[in-house]
Amino acid sequence: MNNNFDVIVIGSGPGGYVCAIRCAQLGLKTACIEEKKSLGGTCLNLGCIPSKSLLNASEMFHKAQKEFKNLGIELSDLKLNLSKMMANKNKTVLTLTKGIEFLFKKNKITHLKGKALISNKNVVEVISEGNNKETYKTKNIIIATGSIPTSLPGIEFDEKVVVSSTGALTFDKPPKDLIVIGGGYIGLELSSVWKRLGSNVTVIEYLDHIIPGMDKDISVEFLKILTKQGINFRLDTKVTRVEILKDRGLVSFINNKTKKEEKIEGNKILVAVGRKSNIGPDIKKIGLKIDKNNKIEVNDKFETSIKNIYAIGDVIDKGPMLAHKAEDEGIAVAEIIAGQAGHVNYDVIPAVIYTNPEVATVGKTEEQLKKDNIDYRVGKFPFLANSRAKVNNETEGFVKIIADAKTDRVLGVSIISSVAGTLIAELAIAMEFGASSEDIARTCHAHPTHSESVKEAALAVDKRPIHF
Ligand code: NAI
Repeated sequence: MNNNFDVIVIGSGPGGYVCAIRCAQLGLKTACIEEKKSLGGTCLNLGCIPSKSLLNASEMFHKAQKEFKNLGIELSDLKLNLSKMMANKNKTVLTLTKGIEFLFKKNKITHLKGKALISNKNVVEVISEGNNKETYKTKNIIIATGSIPTSLPGIEFDEKVVVSSTGALTFDKPPKDLIVIGGGYIGLELSSVWKRLGSNVTVIEYLDHIIPGMDKDISVEFLKILTKQGINFRLDTKVTRVEILKDRGLVSFINNKTKKEEKIEGNKILVAVGRKSNIGPDIKKIGLKIDKNNKIEVNDKFETSIKNIYAIGDVIDKGPMLAHKAEDEGIAVAEIIAGQAGHVNYDVIPAVIYTNPEVATVGKTEEQLKKDNIDYRVGKFPFLANSRAKVNNETEGFVKIIADAKTDRVLGVSIISSVAGTLIAELAIAMEFGASSEDIARTCHAHPTHSESVKEAALAVDKRPIHF
């Protein structure tokens, strides 16, 4: 093999593999190094994809159990076959990771299997199985090594009782009592899965609200919905200790206000308090600038402190830790290396929590606008008044559009709906095009669809919704 490349991408998650494809499309001789057995990184193998498979399957199970009979669909002998559900999840993951292998071949990308170690800005070593070492030369290096779960001081993952999201995607039976530490993305998605499959779930969150950073309105409404679904919440509560008692965990916590200490036992303890960047010792050794949060510092061209070494995705000091943000950065950096004008608009990155209903947001929240002293108007429309949502018995949630008080330009949108993750794309496009709420209000939306609530919320910014 010719060991000289234009670009070596380290890591094959959504950032790395998309970046490699774009580099190859632009005529750059590209290799992508991955240490795990399959391509796709955390998202495809241990994160977004397997969790969505379980969210989808568990929702079907829940609907068959609780909702079908109201629609005149009667079932007898309904039961859960968790190993089959897991097998279906594994099959989907396999199909998608094989899909990347196919795309690599199609685009003539060299897939190097093993652990990458950067020697200097133009040399990367790959240590493969059996400790074989191979050296590769390259004009550019792109670090896309992603992130790994983080825990709390003194609490270690054993992936048996104290699990990260990785362990919580592979339980062999629904834990009778599942304690979830952290009411963020991972905590709430996996709480939903196991609650639907029969677990008694308690979420312990340090702050006095769930999903920090999202619009307060959304956080309050979402908490009500999840509580109604039977998930228990302990907010404003700090976990102090987790003890392992044979095959169970004992979690000690204190309420931040009352300082009262309590303990709760669970068969499984999921720690979902965030993720940390995955930075190997080689990166530190070559002297790349790392910030106080242990993230690689990059400029707006994704250049690190060493020329010709770039970084994207969860490992950098920019934007949220989201797969689609990493993908867009991967495309942008490939275009920049090829001499084009690659660019990511960090003001318009949608975020979705795939519970039921889903939560989706893009742009600014009311709290951020207040902090920035920007005058705004708000339009809200509930799905209770949307005909399609009523037909489907999906009336929970609302669309909330925030527009600039003077220019009417849309500044932020939050949605709770069964299809929020799909609806938010329309708003991201509107915001990229600099739309006003009036632009959305004047756009014809098909009837009957959930999307009419977007139009109605836009009308509500000017206090003239039709159906509410
Ligand atoms: P997160 O940052 O979303 O939530 C962590 C939660 O833990 C926060 O609410 C925080 O206040 C709480 N917390 C922190 N310390 C605590 C303590 N001592 N006791 C109790 N609560 C504590 O992190 P999460 O859920 O682990 O997700 C990690 C990353 O993965 C996030 O950046 C997220 O963007 C990404 N992700 C995205 C998904 C999606 O797009 N649907 C799904 C899953 C993960």
